[in-house]
Amino acid sequence: MAQRYNRAEDMQNPTVSLRDFDTFGDVAAEDDPVLEYFLSTNAVESIRKNESFLVLGRKGTGKTAIVRHFTETGGSTSKALSLRGYPWNVHALRVDGGASDIEAYVSSWRYLIAVELASLVLKQEGAWQSSLINSLDNFLKENYGGSSPKLEDILRPKRLKLNKISFMPSVMGNQLGGVDLERSSRDHQFGLELNALTSAIMDAVRDALSWCKAESLSLHFDELDQGITVLDDSRERMIIGLIIAAREIKRESEKAGKPINPVVYLRSDIWEELNFSDKNKISQTLTHILEWNSATLLDLIETRIKAKLGTSASWDKIIEPELMRGSQPKWNHILSRTFLRPRDVIRFLNGALKEAKKRGVEPILLSNKDIVSSREDYSSYLKAELDDEIRPHWQQWGEALQACSAISTITFEKSDFEREYRARVSKETK
Ligand SMILES: Nc1ncnc2c1ncn2[C@@H]1O[C@H](COP(=O)(O)OP(=O)(O)OP(=O)(O)O)[C@@H](O)[C@H]1O
Ligand SMILES: [Mg+2]
Repeated sequence: MAQRYNRAEDMQNPTVSLRDFDTFGDVAAEDDPVLEYFLSTNAVESIRKNESFLVLGRKGTGKTAIVRHFTETGGSTSKALSLRGYPWNVHALRVDGGASDIEAYVSSWRYLIAVELASLVLKQEGAWQSSLINSLDNFLKENYGGSSPKLEDILRPKRLKLNKISFMPSVMGNQLGGVDLERSSRDHQFGLELNALTSAIMDAVRDALSWCKAESLSLHFDELDQGITVLDDSRERMIIGLIIAAREIKRESEKAGKPINPVVYLRSDIWEELNFSDKNKISQTLTHILEWNSATLLDLIETRIKAKLGTSASWDKIIEPELMRGSQPKWNHILSRTFLRPRDVIRFLNGALKEAKKRGVEPILLSNKDIVSSREDYSSYLKAELDDEIRPHWQQWGEALQACSAISTITFEKSDFEREYRARVSKETK
């Protein structure tokens, strides 16, 4: 019955005007009211079930959107940790001299994750029944002046104070009265002491969680790539350290009852640059790669159309029906100019929407001309987006593009490209 009713309605309204439709959304999830039209994907399912702790995706594939979904809807068991503006230079000094180069930052990240989890568990209903909760609370208050330290302050103290009302873990039979965070990069004790403290904190976190109504805790580390112009060794080792530390904490909690999942969201181009021994193992098992296709992207766009124009609206109703040149449907024409990323599609459609509104012909629908006219503006956007992804790995890619324009044919010989590219690169470095 319902279907027949819809069909009748369809007959009456074959199109829906975009007159009151202001935008397809902002291109960054931080500024987009994405939760009003969030599309739950298999990535969300995999994270919810704690099957993955590493989420990889190119720029604009929806990492931040997922973080917002987990941390802004339902309960307070998930916390977003944006590393935009993170003091990487302070963290860089917290080197574990007893570990290999690649693992030099694992102990500092383990500690940071433990402190974040401590502050999160303290907020859960029931946690205060744990006999260890006072130790956690005292430790945080003593060292950070409150139970919710800011992410950027966690590794900042020169020395962590320990005492009987917080924790006094032992290293080789000696009880620790404190842990110095500021020491020489060759100091072998740093990792041992900090790991002993982290274990004590995590034991308390797990005990407290066992008393809580909450079934699990999760942290969501986003924007690790913010501000990277060149991926240097130290930043690379810090990112590897976070991934290894998150995996260890996740694993240790699996044995102990309720799941704890520190999830790391990373741009795939940066992941590809990293080198460490468990990389392949992690990508085979605990990683989710964000990928979209024509059907899922259409679903994402239609969810937006329906949220704003009502459930009977759809893609077909907001476009003029003529096919594009080469009998191509508009949707395919747009998609073939994107990297199958939501951000590209949203950006392209916003441009076309602007053109349609400029024409102002009622009903306002996207026409072939609107799509073609918005391509130039879209190209500048795409170039800037690619700049962010490619420049950290290939500083001269701008010169490579100029070389292609200078050749100005779609197909060319490799040697032509090399000649033009070399001429530009050497001019730059003179
Ligand atoms: N599951 C989703 N449901 C609805 N909209 C989404 C979804 N995923 C992504 N988007 C939208 O796609 C756009 C890009 O997403 P987002 O900003 O999360 O990408 P990102 O991977 O964090 O990119 P960057 O690496 O540049 O930070 C935003 O407009 C966002 O709202
Ligand atoms: Mg993001």
